Amino acid sequence: MDAPQSRYDIPAYTEGWFQIAWTKDLGRGEIKKVRQFGRDFTLFRGQDGKVGLIDDVCPHLGAHFSEGGCVKGNAVRCPYHAWEFDRDGACVNIPYAKKIPKKAQVGSYTVVEKHGLIFMYRDKAGSRTDAPLPPIHDFHVGDYVEASTYEFKIRIHGQDIMENSVDSPHFAAVHGHAMPTNAFFTEKDELRVDQTSSVHRFGKTLHFKIEFHMVEPGFHYMFFPELPGGEAFVFSSIVPVDEEFTNHRLTLMVKKTRIPGYSKILQRFITWQMMKTYKEDMQIWEHKEYHSRPVLCDGDGSIMKLRKWYAQFFEPQDDAPPSTAKRSHALGVVSPVQDS
Ligand code: FES
Ligand SMILES: [Fe+2]
Repeated sequence: MDAPQSRYDIPAYTEGWFQIAWTKDLGRGEIKKVRQFGRDFTLFRGQDGKVGLIDDVCPHLGAHFSEGGCVKGNAVRCPYHAWEFDRDGACVNIPYAKKIPKKAQVGSYTVVEKHGLIFMYRDKAGSRTDAPLPPIHDFHVGDYVEASTYEFKIRIHGQDIMENSVDSPHFAAVHGHAMPTNAFFTEKDELRVDQTSSVHRFGKTLHFKIEFHMVEPGFHYMFFPELPGGEAFVFSSIVPVDEEFTNHRLTLMVKKTRIPGYSKILQRFITWQMMKTYKEDMQIWEHKEYHSRPVLCDGDGSIMKLRKWYAQFFEPQDDAPPSTAKRSHALGVVSPVQDS
């Protein structure tokens, strides 16, 4: 019998920075299982407040740290025989041994916290990195009302979620917006789309602008610079759970205004609008097929540009020659292009 055909003919996984949790969900001394990229990781925060991420499986007899293990000082203690592993993945204590075996080591990963988000660096080789997080809009968290956060597990490839942002006509057909105008830029490794559109709600036509910043294959954010009386961000984090499902986290930040309570109302309105559009997209996303060579028309927006940008982040494939184009500016620096 033939093996079932994969839904996608593009690599399932990419390399780069991925948001894997929120700061608020990991207190001192807490441990959490993170299932991403088809495997389990242990995320923990030591008593010194610093976060660590290591492989979840103990090299001793295979227990999972996140299934009953705990944090001791700044290390993770395995639930089975109490071996302890630090943030570098090194075994630092075996309570009943005189000597720690050299191979008592697990994989460890680079993690960074920013704006209340916890990121990991991930590549196929399991490397650590000194490279900084790519720039994310600079702002003062204190200037914003408490973020609202949402998490979904969806049957889709991350590329399709990003593609949604540049897929101009779907905003009209699926979400009931006016046909948007998109200006498309690349800046270093970032891809940006400035969108203007409008929507009819509550008997009024609301005009809005959105900047879509594609920072990483696993992370993009939307900036709303001109909301009535305010501005807001939505951070959108896309991490493959395995080859079939993707974890999508959304973080909504609304800037405080001088009018008491107004930002909260704005936050509720954006949440309502966001969830509405999300449900509309999700029904299509979970069932759609992937066409690597779609039949496109002149009003279809920048779908193939997005795919070209995204492709530079695919993890190397065993049967492919090594790429020299990885993380190069695949599109070069271009002038704004009106695509619709
Ligand atoms: S399995 Fe982890 S200490 Fe034995
Ligand atoms: Fe959409």
